[in-house]
Amino acid sequence: LNKSFIVALISYFIGNFSSAYILGKAFQKKDIRNYGSGNAGATNALRVFGKKLGGITFILDVLKGIIAVYIGERIMGYNGKLIASIFVVLGHDWPVFLKFKGGKGVATSLGVIFLLHYPTAIICTAIGIAIIIITRYVSLGSIIAAGLVPIVGSIVNRPFNKNFFITTFILAILVISRHKDNINRLVKGEEFKLGEKV
Ligand code: G3P
Repeated sequence: LNKSFIVALISYFIGNFSSAYILGKAFQKKDIRNYGSGNAGATNALRVFGKKLGGITFILDVLKGIIAVYIGERIMGYNGKLIASIFVVLGHDWPVFLKFKGGKGVATSLGVIFLLHYPTAIICTAIGIAIIIITRYVSLGSIIAAGLVPIVGSIVNRPFNKNFFITTFILAILVISRHKDNINRLVKGEEFKLGEKV
């Protein structure tokens, strides 16, 4: 087995650890995917299960990204980090254990970007949080922050690294494409607002 394959596989399975699903089942005996937006992520866990489980979901999903990228680097250096970045998010979004119905990869990508290039993570997260505070739409903040990552990353992370750019570009596409339903709701003015109970 080659190292890239091992890193991809480990990362994918780390991503499969669906915090929102596991915490929801453990503490409230509910499958998160049947409630709220139906998404197995921190925003929906906050919406459906409240602040405590939502907060823990967020932290664990960020940690997943960090752990996978750390392991990827230990196994095969910088390219291992990049491979782990993509595959941990793929594992989160499409977990085999949950019949491929997972989350949108926002918190996990945040953890990933922190290890890839933390100044980019700080800038994009700050902009995302500002948008969330102003609009009360977590999805909108997530989409814009994700879209900014490859742009900000290629400006701030010098010298320009093609593989880093491609990786952040794929991460952005993954996050944005997973928000298809949110984008439809945003356009119609029907998106859930932060703090809104369901
Ligand atoms: O955490 C993902 C967020 O951007 C949107 O989540 O549940 O509102 O679709 P949700």
